[in-house]
Amino acid sequence: MAKTLPKVTPTVLILFTIFSFSAFATAGSFSRALSPAKLGLKREKLSHLHFYFHDIVSGRNPTAVRVAEAAMTNMSLTGFGAVFMMDDPLTVRPELSSKLVGRAQGIYASASQTEVGFLMVLNFAFMEGKYNGSSLSVLGRNVILSAVRELPIVGGSGLFRFARGYAQARTHTFDMRTKDAVVDYNVYAFHY
Ligand SMILES: *[C@@H]1O[C@H](CO)[C@@H](O)[C@H](O)[C@H]1NC(C)=O
Ligand SMILES: *[C@@H]1O[C@H](CO)[C@@H](O)[C@H](O)[C@H]1NC(C)=O
Repeated sequence: MAKTLPKVTPTVLILFTIFSFSAFATAGSFSRALSPAKLGLKREKLSHLHFYFHDIVSGRNPTAVRVAEAAMTNMSLTGFGAVFMMDDPLTVRPELSSKLVGRAQGIYASASQTEVGFLMVLNFAFMEGKYNGSSLSVLGRNVILSAVRELPIVGGSGLFRFARGYAQARTHTFDMRTKDAVVDYNVYAFHY
């Protein structure tokens, strides 16, 4: 009689564990561990992107517009409290007429009372070649009078899923009269 009882070997225990886990997974579970390969993720890559950002605030077709401010903003030397919405073109060369590779879409807002420093919350929405439709998300601090500003890349979509990295911004030209700016961007991002 004892012979008919299954022996509880380590193998049986492991099989039992696997079966109960898969039953759990197919029963509409909320979360489960997943191997990166199952999601099609191969080796992590590092990419360097270089482009020019055109912030046009003057003229009839501005690409950045002031959307809000505080009652005291006009009394602040740094424009503290002013909020701008941008849809700025990104090109391969400093000239606006050069090839368009994407757009910087988002918000910048004067967040410092002691220097001209913007909080930048934006997406680089790319449209060039294989990057068309992919984006990188930036959340950073931009003290525009500094020679080099570093802004963290906090994520991405499409080819840039799981992205992280940083962007370095250098003012290429700034027109004192119109306040239009061309900014040189170097972006370094890890992604799959
Ligand atoms: C700031 O704006 C307010 C409201 O528009 C106005 O009354 C005030 O005179 C302005 N102050 C300065 C310094 O321009
Ligand atoms: C990018 O993709 C959109 C939508 O799929 C398409 O209409 C557009 O022509 C593409 N642009 C480039 C430059 O490939």
